[in-house]
Amino acid sequence: MNLKDKYIEFFVSKGHKHIPSAPVVPENDPSVLFNTAGMQPLIPYLMGEPHPYGTRLVDYQKCIRTNDLDEIGDKTHHTFFEMLGNWSLGDYFKKESITWSFEFLTDVLKIPVERLAVTVYAGDDKVPYDKEAHDLWLNLGISEEHIASTKEDNFWAAGETGPCGTDTEIFYFRSEDDIPKVFDPEDDRWVEIWNNVFMEFNRTKDGKIENLAKKNIDTGMGYERVVAVLEGKTDNYTSSLWEDVIKLIEDISGKSYTGNEESMRIIADHMRTAVFIAADDAGIKPSNKDQGYILRRLIRRAIRHAKKLEIDVNSDWEERIVNLLIEKYKKYYEEIDRNKDAVIEALKTETVKFNKTIEKGLKEFEKKSDKDIDAETAFHLYDTFGFPIELTIELANEKGLKVDIAGFNKRFKEHQELSRTASAGKFKGGLAGDSEIETKYHTATHLLNAALKITVNKDCHQMGSNINTERMRFDFNCDHKLTDEEIKNTEDLVNKWISESLPVHKEEMTKDEALKSGAECRFIEKYPDIVTVYFIGNVSKELCGGPHVSNTNEIGHFKITKEEACSAGVRRIKAIIE
Ligand code: ALA
Repeated sequence: MNLKDKYIEFFVSKGHKHIPSAPVVPENDPSVLFNTAGMQPLIPYLMGEPHPYGTRLVDYQKCIRTNDLDEIGDKTHHTFFEMLGNWSLGDYFKKESITWSFEFLTDVLKIPVERLAVTVYAGDDKVPYDKEAHDLWLNLGISEEHIASTKEDNFWAAGETGPCGTDTEIFYFRSEDDIPKVFDPEDDRWVEIWNNVFMEFNRTKDGKIENLAKKNIDTGMGYERVVAVLEGKTDNYTSSLWEDVIKLIEDISGKSYTGNEESMRIIADHMRTAVFIAADDAGIKPSNKDQGYILRRLIRRAIRHAKKLEIDVNSDWEERIVNLLIEKYKKYYEEIDRNKDAVIEALKTETVKFNKTIEKGLKEFEKKSDKDIDAETAFHLYDTFGFPIELTIELANEKGLKVDIAGFNKRFKEHQELSRTASAGKFKGGLAGDSEIETKYHTATHLLNAALKITVNKDCHQMGSNINTERMRFDFNCDHKLTDEEIKNTEDLVNKWISESLPVHKEEMTKDEALKSGAECRFIEKYPDIVTVYFIGNVSKELCGGPHVSNTNEIGHFKITKEEACSAGVRRIKAIIE
């Protein structure tokens, strides 16, 4: 049995319910592109909402972290990874959490006690030293010298606000060397394998730490890392988890992993992440925006490294890799098989698009790369050859050249503005990222958000939203199924506002000003200091990055096609513009 199955089985035996992984694209949090930790989809429950499965949960969660995208290619980083986790929602606390972690590691995984070490919270003026955790570990058999304490690394929070707490981290000695008597968390032969967070606090906007109504446990174990560690590998990509993928890339390229590690790791990592993004039920396609842009970058970067390995990118190379990945993961994530066609389609279309121009783009880059890359060249590579700016930066780095990134961003912004206003949507092709129809849906989303506050309940807020060229989807908090009358009133109100030809304009302001203005400010803490607020006549003001139409009369007729439950206390509306 593999580690993932063992983990689930163990915690199920301790009374936990196995809950399915949430989608990689968060359903109820428009402020982040992807789930980055197992606890993220559980935030409402850690904050006190009852979870439908009870108070003890276990899962493996699909996570995507793209903040260190440039580090992919080294031995240990991945953009996609699975996080094993178990939770207590106001149920058990430190004692059980620590005892079960110890039991799982030593009894199930058979790790010798002396190979383990832990850190606990050192204490500060707000929260004291975690003597309880220290004593629990000591009693279980971890030696005093293998228990260290820190401040920074033993406090965990998902963001600036929200649930948080002190934690205890568990380390494994991954080296042939003699195990040191005294544990030093800075010694990188000790690798962190598991984090148990004692989530008993909530951090408020003004930085105050207050007690949560219930004390929770949140744990996280990075699957890829721990598999590699337990197999004694320092290069994650040589663990049994990646073996078949790397082997296939070797077959396809006719080259060996040794000597081509970087490109092979990038292809393996990026293709896997691309599969999971494209297979998500959110229906993400490569584009110039948000998740779609990440997907585009991943595919394009994988293609470039495939070319480096002299793989014929016009062959079915990507389909072979995708098929293998789907076979490998479908037992755990059925959607990747169900949405297989969408995955292949996304990859193929993007490959064709990029292929058309990459050679010419690379030549163009070569021509210009006798000196640092100025904004105009970077923009030209983007606009004409579809090079994401990150690709230009990577190519430049390889040659020790600089790129005028600030200049590029400025140029990019100017062009975006231009393309929007030039035609109120007539602009076709690439850059702006938002088609005319998607832009209309954006504005319709704000109108719907405002309308529901009048037709249903003034406390209705957006919990999630998703737009494509076919329809809009809008999730909001609401304790009942909407009546036919509520649906009709909502539809009528939105259409009334559309027919009133309300002007749309935006203003930049500080977060404080935005809050004071009474604008809808969901997840404001995740936004930069200066935010943009969109105003629609005097019916809606809402924090948003845009884009929007400039007058509601551009939208067309708004129609609600479906109203359904989304999750506990959250309803979902699907609507179209005719
Ligand atoms: N949420 C904790 C982490 O991601 C367990 O490390």
